[in-house]
Amino acid sequence: MDAESNLMAISFLQPCLDQVRAQMLDDLSSTIPQLTEVYQYYVQMHSKRLRPTLIPLMAQATNGLARLWSSKDPRCDCSGTEQEYLNYDVGGSALANVILPEQLRLAAIIEMVHVASLMHDDVLDESFLRRGAPSAPCRFGTKQSVLGGDFLLTRAVILSTTLGELEVISEVAKILQTLVEGELLQAQSQSQSQSQGSSKLKWDTQLLEPSLLTQDVATSHWDSYLDKTYRKTASLFAHALRCAVILGGAAESDPLRKTATEYGSQLGMAFQIIDDVLDFNGDDSIGKPIGADVELGLATAPILFALEENEDLQPLVDRRFREPGDVQTAIQIVKATNALARSTALASLYAQKAHDALISLPESPSKAALQALAMGAVSRDH
Ligand code: FPP
Ligand code: MG
Ligand code: MG
Repeated sequence: MDAESNLMAISFLQPCLDQVRAQMLDDLSSTIPQLTEVYQYYVQMHSKRLRPTLIPLMAQATNGLARLWSSKDPRCDCSGTEQEYLNYDVGGSALANVILPEQLRLAAIIEMVHVASLMHDDVLDESFLRRGAPSAPCRFGTKQSVLGGDFLLTRAVILSTTLGELEVISEVAKILQTLVEGELLQAQSQSQSQSQGSSKLKWDTQLLEPSLLTQDVATSHWDSYLDKTYRKTASLFAHALRCAVILGGAAESDPLRKTATEYGSQLGMAFQIIDDVLDFNGDDSIGKPIGADVELGLATAPILFALEENEDLQPLVDRRFREPGDVQTAIQIVKATNALARSTALASLYAQKAHDALISLPESPSKAALQALAMGAVSRDH
C-alpha cells in the first residue's frame, strides 16, 4: 500500500487523534507559564503522531477479542492457540470497534513520554533543529527544555495512575527505564571503542543472515546497535501496544498481549532503522541536517553495512568521526556502497515481521491499517 492509501486507511481516526491532542493539552495545564510554552511548542509541532495513531488502531483491531477469550465464550474452545481468533465473530461483542476512553488516555500518555524524550534528546544531541524548526533548547534554552520534558514525564506518570490498571503503571515505568537505558548505551558507544565487547544483549542477529550479512562483521557491533535500537525506540512501541490490549481486557495468558507486543517491537525496529537511513539520504522534509548521527559519532546500520564493503571506514569509526573531514568521508563511503539498500532491506524484514505478527487477528479496517503502516514505515521519506 502506498503512503497515500496509508493515510486514507487511517483518516477515520482523525477525530480520535484530535481528541488525544486535546486531552494532552488539557492535562498539561501548568501554573508556570514558561513551562506551558515550552511543552506546548513540541506537543503542537509534532504532527506525525504515529504512536498515538497505533494505539487506537490496535484497540479497534483487538477490542472484543480479549473479552471473548477470557469469558470462555462458547464460540471459542479457548484451548490457547492464537488461530482461534480467526474464527471469532467479534461483531457480537459490545466492545467491537470501540475505543475505550482509557485507551485514548493511554495514547496521550505515550505521546507525552515521546515528546519528553525528544526535549531531552535535543539537549543531549545538541540539536538546533527539530522538524525543520528551532529545537526546544535552541528556542527556550537547555534548562527549560529539560524541565519541560520532566514536567511532561511527571504528568504522564500521574495520568497513568488514573487508568485503573496497576500493570499499566508498571509498563509505563518500564518504558521510561528502557528509554533511558537506550540513551545510556548509545552514550557509552559514543565514548568507548567499538572494538570493546558489548553488554548482555537480547537481540540476536538472525535477521542479518545469511543474505544480508555477507562477511564476518563483528557481531558485537550489530548486537549493541540492535539492542540500543530496541531500547531507544522499539520498546516504547511494544509496551505501549501491550498496554492498549491490557486496557482492552487481555488477561496475562491472553495471546493478544504477545501479538501486540511483537507487532510494536518489530515495527519500532523498522522505523528506527529507516530513521538511521534518512540520516544519510533524507531531503529537507526530514527537518534536520544530513549526517547528524555521524556527527555524534554513531555507527548505525548504514555504517555497519558499509564497513563490510570498505575497510577504509574502520579507522573513522574507531575515532568516532572526530577528525576534520571524517563525517563527509564517511557519508561518501556509505553512499558509494550498498549499505543504504541493505539497511532498507533489513528494515523491510522487521516491517514484514510486524505485518505477520497480526496474522491471527480477524480481518478489519484497523488491522489492515496497522499492517499498511508497518509496510509504509520502510518507504517513508521523513
Ligand atoms: C530520538 O533519537 C530519541 C529517542 C528515540 C529517545 C531519547 C531518550 C532519552 C533522551 C532518554 C530520556 C528519556 C525520557 C523518557 C525523558 P535520535 O536522536 O536518534 O533521533 P532524532 O533525529 O529524532 O533526534
Ligand atoms: Mg536526536
Ligand atoms: Mg539522540
